[in-house]
Amino acid sequence: MSQAKKGLDGVSIGDSRLSLVNGTEGKLVYAGYKIEDLAAYALYEEVVYLLWEGKLPNTTELENLRAAIAADAVVPDEVIALMKTFPEDANAMAVLRTATSALAFYDTDSERYDLDALRRKAIRLTGQVTTLSAAWMRIRKGLEPIAPRTDLNLSANFVYMMTGEEPSSSAVDAINAYMVLLTEHGMNASTFAARVTVSTGSDMHSAIVSAMGTLKGPAHGGANTEAMLQFMEIGEVANVEPWFNENVKTGKKRIMGIGHRVYKALDPRAAVLRERSEALAKASGNTKWFEIADNLAKLARADQYFIERNLYPNVDYFSAIALYTLDIEVDMFTPLFAMSRMAGWTAHVIEQVTSNRLIRPSVDYVGPMDLEWKPIQERE
Ligand code: ACO
Repeated sequence: MSQAKKGLDGVSIGDSRLSLVNGTEGKLVYAGYKIEDLAAYALYEEVVYLLWEGKLPNTTELENLRAAIAADAVVPDEVIALMKTFPEDANAMAVLRTATSALAFYDTDSERYDLDALRRKAIRLTGQVTTLSAAWMRIRKGLEPIAPRTDLNLSANFVYMMTGEEPSSSAVDAINAYMVLLTEHGMNASTFAARVTVSTGSDMHSAIVSAMGTLKGPAHGGANTEAMLQFMEIGEVANVEPWFNENVKTGKKRIMGIGHRVYKALDPRAAVLRERSEALAKASGNTKWFEIADNLAKLARADQYFIERNLYPNVDYFSAIALYTLDIEVDMFTPLFAMSRMAGWTAHVIEQVTSNRLIRPSVDYVGPMDLEWKPIQERE
């Protein structure tokens, strides 16, 4: 019997100074700071600085980083032209992955591995992926994309590039808090993919493309879109219980946005997002989607199956409600996750390169041995 840990469950790949995920107590800490404090007070760029530099910035350091990200968020015309050739119904994460890959052609540092070049690419990619996401939301509707402004922070720039209008402070605050909550999360699958890629000596754009491909899956970042589609399928608060009985109790469907490899208590990000999504829903005058999500979560929490397996809402559950209330199109939820995670992915790439050893696990062979070669004519 193989001693392997299926899904690499609980396997550590080494040390990291970036974040602590405590799954039994439901705690998340970025470089020493509690996620609840960061979500309440920090600008996304402050968290980016924290991850890249290991400390919170002072006023000048923060303004320098904000300005650098905004200035470098411009996407080359060639990449915008390429995006205009994509089918308008293309999967939004496939669009982001392909466009991000193309950015490398026009990045003069793309094949450089020194720390300075890695930091420059991290700054550029963090802004550019936001620009790509907003651009795609317009291009697929036949609208011209809007270039980033140099005077805005990243969340404000995203809202501005999406709508073309002066961003409202409430929308910017909500997107900023969302981005802070999703910036970094230990050795999750997409971060692992990024580190594996760069551990071979491959470049940062390749690592980020690997991460995006991995984030796309419904067991990981794709779950926010799937969670919203599930709430839409339920449709009405009165349908929550019948839907649960028909689909979940019978084992036909998993509840998307519930369960986590590490958290066996409530995901602390889900607690913040529940509050935020409730406030956003109330402010919008439409609480239906929040109520559907909240009632479904309560039903699951009272169910023996979910209790025994310690299954709680994860980050994707209430973030679906928050993003939907902010008028983000449902298939763009995962690109928004990617936008937010750029700082975490790039910080891990830099950490890996700084102390690299090829990540190359093993597998236990359990197939047959010593079979005799038969010419093709003699095979059945
Ligand atoms: N609904 C119903 N049952 C569930 C759910 C769920 N959402 N999640 C897990 N379970 C059950 C499994 O059927 C399994 O039961 P069993 O022991 O009787 O076989 C048990 O709980 C453990 O589940 P695993 O799939 O073994 O747990 P794993 O750690 O491998 O997977 C995962 C975690 C993929 C997140 C899983 O909980 C899931 O599919 N959730 C729904 C998708 C989702 O929300 N993904 C986002 C995760 S957060 C993120 O990546 C940003």
